[in-house]
Amino acid sequence: MSTADANAPLFSAELISPEVAAQLPEGYKIRPLQRSDYANGFLDVLRVLTTVGDVTEEQWNERYTWISSRSDSYYLLCITDASSAIVGTGALIVERKFIHNLGIVGHIEDIAVAKDQQGKKLGLRIIQALDFVAEKVGCYKAILDCSEANEGFYVKCGFKRAGLEMAHYY
Ligand code: ACO
Repeated sequence: MSTADANAPLFSAELISPEVAAQLPEGYKIRPLQRSDYANGFLDVLRVLTTVGDVTEEQWNERYTWISSRSDSYYLLCITDASSAIVGTGALIVERKFIHNLGIVGHIEDIAVAKDQQGKKLGLRIIQALDFVAEKVGCYKAILDCSEANEGFYVKCGFKRAGLEMAHYY
């Protein structure tokens, strides 16, 4: 694969909010995920959130290809620091419904900021950037599940409690 292909954005960079980009700390950038992010610490950042497992580059490529083929539904973005290492990430999954006049709902998933980078408003910027994408692609709302411990963070991001999560594990 060429370097250009490996560094191609998962989705259009026009969906990255210029306001959010401008508010990042000096040297930090926000951009869509790219295939080469396997080597940029993407999976390590996700480890602050939950178990990731030992994902090989081949497995990464297979999943990336699948996600990329649905890039009008999967919007994964990341924040990089001055050394281009990934320090934060988040995802918006867009669901197209029949109800609410063919309504479109955004699901915010897998928000993570590297431990040593927390408290710099990077989490807030990720949510603001995903909100921007959600609005631009026509979502009428964005929803997410979180622990009680993170409720305060999402309230600061403008979300409010609305319902209860139920789960059935397989
Ligand atoms: N409870 C209450 N307030 C909080 C919390 C919290 N757990 N975390 C941050 N805040 C506040 C901050 O103090 C700040 O408030 P201020 O504006 O008054 O200063 C505001 O929220 C914004 O905080 P950020 O600096 O943007 O937060 P950070 O960059 O540290 O990211 C995050 C927060 C994403 C929760 C980070 O701590 C993290 O990665 N945690 C581990 C993984 C995780 O739990 N992710 C969320 C899972 S839920 C999901 O993915 C849908």
